[in-house]
Amino acid sequence: MHNETEKARAAPRRQPEPAPAIAPAQSAQPARRPDPHAFADETMRKAIRDGLQARPRKLPASLLYDALGSSLFEAITFLPEYEVTRADFALLERHSREVFDALGGPIEVCELGPGAGSKAALVLRQLIERQPTVPFTGVDVSRTALDQCQHALEAIPGVVARAQQARYLDGLAAAPRTEDHRRLVLFLGSNLSNFERAAAARFFHEVRAHLQPGDGFLLATDLDKAPEQLIPAYDDALGVTAAFNRNVLLRLNRDWGADFPLDAFRHRAHWNAQARRIEMHLEAERSIRTRVLDIDVLMAPGETLWTESSHRFTTAELRGWGEAAGFRCAGQWQNAPWAFAHSLFVVPDRFPPVFPPGFLPQSSFP
Ligand SMILES: C[S@@+](CC[C@H](N)C(=O)[O-])C[C@H]1O[C@@H](n2cnc3c(N)ncnc32)[C@H](O)[C@@H]1O
Repeated sequence: MHNETEKARAAPRRQPEPAPAIAPAQSAQPARRPDPHAFADETMRKAIRDGLQARPRKLPASLLYDALGSSLFEAITFLPEYEVTRADFALLERHSREVFDALGGPIEVCELGPGAGSKAALVLRQLIERQPTVPFTGVDVSRTALDQCQHALEAIPGVVARAQQARYLDGLAAAPRTEDHRRLVLFLGSNLSNFERAAAARFFHEVRAHLQPGDGFLLATDLDKAPEQLIPAYDDALGVTAAFNRNVLLRLNRDWGADFPLDAFRHRAHWNAQARRIEMHLEAERSIRTRVLDIDVLMAPGETLWTESSHRFTTAELRGWGEAAGFRCAGQWQNAPWAFAHSLFVVPDRFPPVFPPGFLPQSSFP
């Protein structure tokens, strides 16, 4: 993969301090230097600042994904409780070729939030049987995810892969087009679940604004199901999801100057029936006082930091949002017993972009 941030990564790193000759009396604090590879921009800074002052206090879900967070997420995909990944793979195995048929060819692929790239690898192995080369762009905030994705794809001859460390829409806007290719945008793993419903509906318009007639948008989403089925997927017996969640505190301490005591927070995952979502929180078990950016954060016992929402959808609402944004729904495929769907949206040949009144396409998702 060509690396957009190669220069930044090649910059000389600070050398570690030499080890002291005599061990200090107390164990040393972990290093607080910001991780130069962690994604941190003005949008994220503002989201953290605003979110910590809101009630409930709410942090952007993208904060979960630094090097450790991406590795922990990858571990989650192997947990017996987390059926989402297996359902996604099963549908890709069964229907990718129908997706290619619906678009015609040749096809270039752009995946938003590919994580470790194992699903991209599955899709591209099938696509490369139909065309000699496949241009691929992976867009992810996590440098680690992009490195893992590169590793997964370099074994597939004919794939020309590039990485874009960026937010979804900024990366999509910057992805170069290959002449005479139809673009297939992949948004897998139910990444859409992190968006509030209104933002999810808007996301269809925003993706549509970056596509041309004949291009496709393949969306993988988890569907409504009983909370008893869902909650263990976000509160597993091994505690991997709890570690994934609590890593946000490590990241706030390391990259944003906070000083949250990790042992004072408990992982919580609950079903919000009205909003049809799982909410992940970090609940303070005692009073907390710290400073993040330029804000004093005082938390009472029982107060939470809301770190992620994971909404459930119906196939009808997904189809409705897609059609409202000017797509034609060219197919929907469902998995059972774990209810999960793939929806393929295609830009019709003669169809102007449709935007809601006052809407301007822009990147608005932290
Ligand atoms: C839940 S993981 C899913 C990974 C992969 N799609 C899968 O199905 O296994 C979400 C991925 O999207 C990335 N991500 C989260 N928010 C993002 C954003 N706003 N822009 C770009 N990437 C984002 C994360 O770094 C992570 O790799």
